Amino acid sequence: MHAVELIGSKCVLLENVLADLAAGKKRSCRELGIEPDELDQAYDRIVSLQIGCVRDGNTLCIPAGLDLLDVEKIRSLIDPVGRDSLHAIKVFTEIDSTNSYLLQQELDGPGGVLVLAESQTAGRGRRGRSWISPFGSNLYLSLSWRMPLTRATIEGLSLAVGLAVIQGLEEEGFPGLKMKWPNDLLLDNAKVAGILIELKPPTRDYVDLVIGIGVNLQMPVASGRLIDQPWRDLSSEMQGKSRNSIAASIVNSLIAVLGKFAEGGFTSFRQDWQEKDAFINLPVQLHMGDTIIAGIARGVNDQGAIRVLVGEEVREFHGGEITLRASHVA
Ligand code: BTN
Repeated sequence: MHAVELIGSKCVLLENVLADLAAGKKRSCRELGIEPDELDQAYDRIVSLQIGCVRDGNTLCIPAGLDLLDVEKIRSLIDPVGRDSLHAIKVFTEIDSTNSYLLQQELDGPGGVLVLAESQTAGRGRRGRSWISPFGSNLYLSLSWRMPLTRATIEGLSLAVGLAVIQGLEEEGFPGLKMKWPNDLLLDNAKVAGILIELKPPTRDYVDLVIGIGVNLQMPVASGRLIDQPWRDLSSEMQGKSRNSIAASIVNSLIAVLGKFAEGGFTSFRQDWQEKDAFINLPVQLHMGDTIIAGIARGVNDQGAIRVLVGEEVREFHGGEITLRASHVA
């Protein structure tokens, strides 16, 4: 993990203290490298992470322990083909945004770089929204990847990436996930995961993408209050599961999907996507700026554009500022 200071003056590192507390054992300030008069400050900082830290005199403890992200565990769970195509895997304790970080890095040839963070201070969502990213409880990961495609042929990729995330989560024992066009993952009609794909300046032969994925696994209550749309997490199914394993499963299916998409585009994903479509054949509204189009959702076309029956005519709408709201959901 990358170093974040817990107590600046003495350079006590947050990750060292958390690694000590991760097993759920009581640790004295001496064991944590903290002076007794610094304990208040350290305790306040750790409590702000919402990870169940308790204090007993001069000791700190996280009774439930911590399932911290671990580069080596993740690497060992990534399929050999995927491992070979990743130039690096990085885990940050705290970062502004894993997408922003990768957008600033140069990719060195085909393949990609995987970045995860325990927390994001400026996590970004689609359409300028923020992505609430508290410490140690959810997944925030970004993959930069070189695609041998042009911007024009890349339409539909975000839908295919949504399927990859569902597949990875299903393999980890999270059933019942659905898609909301273009790439929100829903459980019981509320959002559990989001995808933000950003492109670096194009070249003639390839596109360098940054694919950001946020999954709400166990959202702390206080952080959940900050989310400005209907949401859920996967906490009811998290018992005994490891975030490292979930992250690796998502990355495995993502790398496989990227390879298949590079060869055949969205067409071969269309049927699978429609099987996961939460709104197919239901009344929907498309919000495009001030314009609202009401109709019946009829799945997607071979490029991933949404199809809506408006009156007697099926119309197709491409990406951009379109918002889909089910008319049947309050
Ligand atoms: C959405 O609005 O649905 C997209 C959310 C994407 C969030 C992820 S978390 C990891 C990566 N880093 C970011 O700043 N955003 C994406």
